[in-house]
Amino acid sequence: MAIQRPTPTNKEIILDPAKTIVSKTDNKGIIVYASDYFIEISGYSLTELMGKPHNIIRHPDMPKVVFEMLWQSIKAKQNMHAVVKNLSKDGSYYWVMTDFKVDVNPETGNIIAIQASRKAVPKHILPEIEKLYKDLLAIEKEVGMAASVKYLVGFLEENNMTYNDWVVKMFAKPEESKQKKGFLGKILGGKAANNDGSFFSKYFNS
Ligand SMILES: Cc1cc2nc3c(=O)[nH]c(=O)nc-3n(C[C@H](O)[C@H](O)[C@H](O)COP(=O)(O)O)c2cc1C
Repeated sequence: MAIQRPTPTNKEIILDPAKTIVSKTDNKGIIVYASDYFIEISGYSLTELMGKPHNIIRHPDMPKVVFEMLWQSIKAKQNMHAVVKNLSKDGSYYWVMTDFKVDVNPETGNIIAIQASRKAVPKHILPEIEKLYKDLLAIEKEVGMAASVKYLVGFLEENNMTYNDWVVKMFAKPEESKQKKGFLGKILGGKAANNDGSFFSKYFNS
């Protein structure tokens, strides 16, 4: 049964920071598993989700280039982090930091499944993400996809990082209130965790 695309509202769903939203797809992005918290937040029932393309929760505010990167990364069998704004069935939205894990059959080298684990995005880093995504979306609409890719490459080059590095760095960013507590916080800033974000350079340098 086809599902009607919801009309986005400006209502935000506040996620429980302790909970993880999990889903799993086949190699084409068809949902084969959704956790209880995924079901609760998305607003769809399990049977509405099973067998559906994962773009069922795609929010129109998301720039295409992010999903382009995701699929390039999946094809290269590399894990990836991405910040995504999702749309629930009632039109409300929620921001998530997603870890995509590509499960490969070691014998055949084929992709068995892709798992996505999502956590709430801390409020203090949202403005930076929203600004970049808004710019990318406007470029995609008014200039085109190729220009959006070039802009994103330029943005990351300026910051000397891959998209994965950018995500990891933002999540390591301390809240301003904590930063103000002592001069050490200001000097040290956020410490980026290790990550395997090499796919981006491979994708765009080819
Ligand atoms: C495991 C997995 C999880 C995904 N999770 C999301 C998600 O939470 N939100 C989303 O918009 N797209 C997600 N996608 C990407 C979608 O498959 C799709 O590429 C994206 O929504 C763009 O759809 P479109 O090409 O129809 O615009 C996921 C893909 C995979 C493989």
